[in-house]
Amino acid sequence: MLAKGLPLRSVLVKGCQPFLSTVWEGPGHPRVPTGDGASISTQIPRPFSEIPTPGNNGWLNLYNFWREMGSQKIHYHQVQNFQKYGPIYREKLGSVESVYIIDPEDVALLFKFEGPTPERFCIPPWVAYHQYHQRPVGVLLKKSGAWKKDRLALNQEVMAPEAIKNFIPLLDPVSQDFVKVLHRRIKQQGSGKFSGDISDDLFRFAFESITNVMFGERLGMLEERVDPEAQRFIDAVYQMFHTSVPMLTFPPDLFRLFKTKTWRDHVAAWDVIFNKAEIYTQNFYWELRQKRDVDNYPGILHRLLKSNKLLFEDVKANITEMLAGGVDTTSMTLQWHLYEMARSLEVQEVLREEVLAARRQAQGNVSTMLQLVPLLKASIKETLRLHPISVTLQRYLENDLVLRNYMIPAKTLVQVSTYAMGQDPTFFLNPSKFDPTRWLGKDKELIHFRNLGFGWGVRQCVGRRIAELEMTLFLIHILENFRVEMQQLRDVGTTFNLILMPDKPIFLTFRPFNQGPPQRRAESSNCRHGEGQMGNRWAAGPIPRARTTRA
Ligand code: HEM
Repeated sequence: MLAKGLPLRSVLVKGCQPFLSTVWEGPGHPRVPTGDGASISTQIPRPFSEIPTPGNNGWLNLYNFWREMGSQKIHYHQVQNFQKYGPIYREKLGSVESVYIIDPEDVALLFKFEGPTPERFCIPPWVAYHQYHQRPVGVLLKKSGAWKKDRLALNQEVMAPEAIKNFIPLLDPVSQDFVKVLHRRIKQQGSGKFSGDISDDLFRFAFESITNVMFGERLGMLEERVDPEAQRFIDAVYQMFHTSVPMLTFPPDLFRLFKTKTWRDHVAAWDVIFNKAEIYTQNFYWELRQKRDVDNYPGILHRLLKSNKLLFEDVKANITEMLAGGVDTTSMTLQWHLYEMARSLEVQEVLREEVLAARRQAQGNVSTMLQLVPLLKASIKETLRLHPISVTLQRYLENDLVLRNYMIPAKTLVQVSTYAMGQDPTFFLNPSKFDPTRWLGKDKELIHFRNLGFGWGVRQCVGRRIAELEMTLFLIHILENFRVEMQQLRDVGTTFNLILMPDKPIFLTFRPFNQGPPQRRAESSNCRHGEGQMGNRWAAGPIPRARTTRA
């Protein structure tokens, strides 16, 4: 089992001897054994069948994997395999065969040849649900020209720098409100600080953020009472990820035909996601149609509809996917970030100093301030290195590709093991250390094809810029207002719920620097309803049941 700081390299290099021609080290840091994969080779490539593998029987492999690890530890399984087989191996699990790579030089080659409309592994139960229930798909599951058309339209509204600056006044108040939530919790505990698991608050924060940039309107998820229907959406996204895992390697039709609980729960989760997203989108659509002129930036939905580049059905499908993609991803990453800062108080202090200096220098101008926090931005990369949301990046090869002198035929599924790479001392010096400065050094070789948290290239995460902005603003406000500590000093492992999550609740302590919540600046607020954040469409409901953990 992987332990932090386990010296992988010796095992890795030993395991690689038969197929590594060169192993070399630069001064001060072990360099990647480039081998045959990253170099120009005159040798005739070896056949695919010679790539190291645990065996060609996918069902036996699957049985062994489940017996040894269980499906929620697939990232540890990959680390073990790299130790056993070296930096490239192939494995058939059930009916899915993949080639796994870990070396950034090989990753560079893979992406260099990925083609104009790259395809990643489509999660089988997602495909089955969409087909069987005739749901429209957006960029997440589209291919070729259809994907490209949607993606270009989305890029303009969610990735372009001119679009992103519009999100600052929408996202900054949500982070300010999160500070108020923590002050509320502090008051409730009555001890001058708050200690506990804030994962549910983070889910709500993420949902409030993504809906605000999509619709330009607040749902009120950070109020004391939240709309239970909105909470159902959040729970459904978690359930959808969680129930995907058992159906990754088995044909989902088996689960469907036997009407298993996993399949039923999966369908129920997607149904909630689609139904709620439909209601949100329709409501805002009708409201927007009444309005001719908008003074402020009206949100992504409005912009997509106005630009007329996509059919309404495609807009709805993409909004649904972005809502679903924008909850657990950012909330989990923020939770890990808080965890890492709480364990490395010196790093936390340096980050805080940077933020405070940036606030002074920018004189409160948030967009200027965002240019002045490079270390904070690097700390998000560092968090995703240690705790990537996606444990692999996947691409189907468009053409044959030679990697490490193995001929890999077109259409093969190649997976970049980002989790394993992030833990490997061959690629990251002292990998168990939370050290944001490693991303800011002069030696660009040290970070070449290693910052993969959001994927890479034209098919990288479409929500990347939203997520980066949302997380940076959140961390700015947390650092300005609280010192974050571990309530109990203990290591928290990871569990694969399709996205990587903590395997137990993380208990943090927030110590405020001042007792009152910071004053919200009037111009930041974008509430449109007189009665505060809960507009009449989002009628108040009972306080949702408190959960300590979702695992
Ligand atoms: C910390 C936050 C996030 C992380 C780490 C993350 C990570 C990823 C990764 C690794 C991919 C696959 C990229 C590739 O194959 O190269 C991806 C795709 C995607 N993400 Fe994110 N994501 C995050 C937040 C978001 C948000 C906020 C949204 C919603 C706007 C979102 C929506 C999507 C969608 C729709 C895709 C599919 C894009 C396509 O195929 O064209 N993600 N994300």
